[in-house]
Amino acid sequence: MTDQDRRPELGVCYYPEQWSEEKWAEDAARMVALGLTWVRVAEFAWAKIEPKPDHFDWAWLDRAVETLGAAGLKVILCTPTAAPPKWLVDLYPEILPVAEDGTVRKFGARRHYCFSSIRYREEAARITGEIAGRYGKNPHVHAWQTDNEYGDHDTIHSYSPAAEEAFRLWLQARYGTIDALNEAWGTSFWSMTYQGFDQIDLPNNLVEEPSPTHRVDFMRFSSDQVKSFNKAQVEIIRALSPGRPVTHNYMNQNTDFDHYAVGEDLDIASWDVYPMGGLVHGRLSDADKARYLRVGDPDQTSFNHDLYRAVGRGRMWVMEQQPGPVNWATSNQAPADGMVRLWTWLAHAHGCEMVSYFRWRQAPFAQEQFHAGLLLSDSTPDQAFREVAEVVAEAQALPAAGPRARARVAFVLDYPSRWATLTLPQGQTYRANHIALDWYGALRRLGLDIDIIGQHSDLAGYDLVVAPDLVIPDPGFVRRLAASGAKALFGPRAGSKTETMQTPATLAPGPLGALLDFRVLRVESLPDYHGERLVMGNRTLAARRWRETIETHEKALARFAGDYRDGAPAFIGNDRARYLATLPDPGSLREVMADTLSWAGVAHLPDLGDLRLTRRGGLTFAFNYGPAAAEVPAPSGARFHIGGRLLPPVGVAVWSDQDRTTSR
Ligand code: GAL
Repeated sequence: MTDQDRRPELGVCYYPEQWSEEKWAEDAARMVALGLTWVRVAEFAWAKIEPKPDHFDWAWLDRAVETLGAAGLKVILCTPTAAPPKWLVDLYPEILPVAEDGTVRKFGARRHYCFSSIRYREEAARITGEIAGRYGKNPHVHAWQTDNEYGDHDTIHSYSPAAEEAFRLWLQARYGTIDALNEAWGTSFWSMTYQGFDQIDLPNNLVEEPSPTHRVDFMRFSSDQVKSFNKAQVEIIRALSPGRPVTHNYMNQNTDFDHYAVGEDLDIASWDVYPMGGLVHGRLSDADKARYLRVGDPDQTSFNHDLYRAVGRGRMWVMEQQPGPVNWATSNQAPADGMVRLWTWLAHAHGCEMVSYFRWRQAPFAQEQFHAGLLLSDSTPDQAFREVAEVVAEAQALPAAGPRARARVAFVLDYPSRWATLTLPQGQTYRANHIALDWYGALRRLGLDIDIIGQHSDLAGYDLVVAPDLVIPDPGFVRRLAASGAKALFGPRAGSKTETMQTPATLAPGPLGALLDFRVLRVESLPDYHGERLVMGNRTLAARRWRETIETHEKALARFAGDYRDGAPAFIGNDRARYLATLPDPGSLREVMADTLSWAGVAHLPDLGDLRLTRRGGLTFAFNYGPAAAEVPAPSGARFHIGGRLLPPVGVAVWSDQDRTTSR
């Protein structure tokens, strides 16, 4: 469906190769009866499609596609390259990825391939051509997915001989001469000078850390390898299956490759939503993890929706929605009853066109036996099945949502900047992915809708651009930001590295000096248990983990207070831009954000606590992540389509709201 359409479309991930054929027709009929319209198949089916080299068994997949399609389902067909078969690995062991410690990662699970293996690229292109050739014009096939979750199981960085060879060529193309590389990498330090590109190793198993430029270049190279691997498949599919959109299913918060770059070659960005594991492995304190145990981090899923809407240039799907407990996190708690419904409406509110659940039936064998599905393994409905039925019924009552309007606040997520802080963290307490969610969450608690953008994105229409960790600002972005009329808020470390991971000649913030006049003289990371104090007007704020000493002629909006450099500027600004020289705690960050929104002329609500609001077209959606019922801030004339003014825990309310002051 397009963004203008009125209802969320729903689908499911199905594995015909895992079930006896007698079940297929009944499964398909039950999917349709439930209200599903999409079904994704075959992403791990290579061994069944091609059981021996060049010996294809299409008959079962022909029948599966026909059975599902004839029942009325639109099929999303996948290239099966995330799981090369055993015979292929035996024929060409060089396709296997190599871990950072140098061990070859073996066959027996999935994602056992190296993006740089030319042999594997040929094989991936071959099987993509075969499957797209056979089904490209099949009337039941409506979309394609490339591979499965690039980056899952830590598979972007491979330290194989093929990667080494490709990396050397990549460096040669980037730098031209070895002198230029020596200069960029700072190899005069520790006698690391190279005489030729063929001497360069991958940055693993060294005695100490490599030059940060060496490491970031390897990250850039590995990201480029994913892009070209994906693009090759997309081109084959487009040629053989014209008119069908191509997507890839990304993950929660994986920053090992540049998602925007891969997204340029896709029609739709999809992602896989597993909030329970996301909570357990995420940024919150143990107390908050306990508080949100069965509902997940109230901001993480929305953050990803907003990110993938940008990656898909407006088009976003959920390819795998968690239906119940999963099997792979450090603990695997069940979501509260009602969460599958909430997550489905949350996706829709954030502009998602289609939500597909993972998976139809729980597997009674292999690695994911404890992973829930819509059905239990004996085919009886599980909790999620009932909640999907509820969503389908509710959708009938919902008026046209319309497209999501451009937000007034844009949030910059830049992948090379992430690689920069992973490479030079300057202490383990600086965690860019946590900081990003803290900033995003602070704005969301004030009722804001947010667009996530990259440095390449169009800035027109934004009143405020926030960038919590823009370590490597692109000069073109800085120029466009300056010309845009938007105000900007930068977090610490902004502009602190050049593209080659060096300190700018003028010190940090490098090119951001065009917006704000200051220099960073000293940075320090601080242990989690230590708090800094800031005085902002008549308020005292708390900050943690990172502190900078800056020299500035700009106005100090807040100053550090305490026994170390008492009175030093902590938060500065002029009429165009602001800079935070530290990381405020969540409550203090909210105060900083509220003040900054007012400065930028963006209206906001009082702290929403456990509620979150999202607007899509003429509708406002409210979600309650808290343990108690809460009143939603709907205007008096609001017309409720789902839920009501008092929202129970795990509740969803949707209303039409013509009053622009509350809907902004
Ligand atoms: C995803 C993956 C699926 C399945 C799922 C389990 O990462 O794409 O194939 O393994 O996790 O939660």
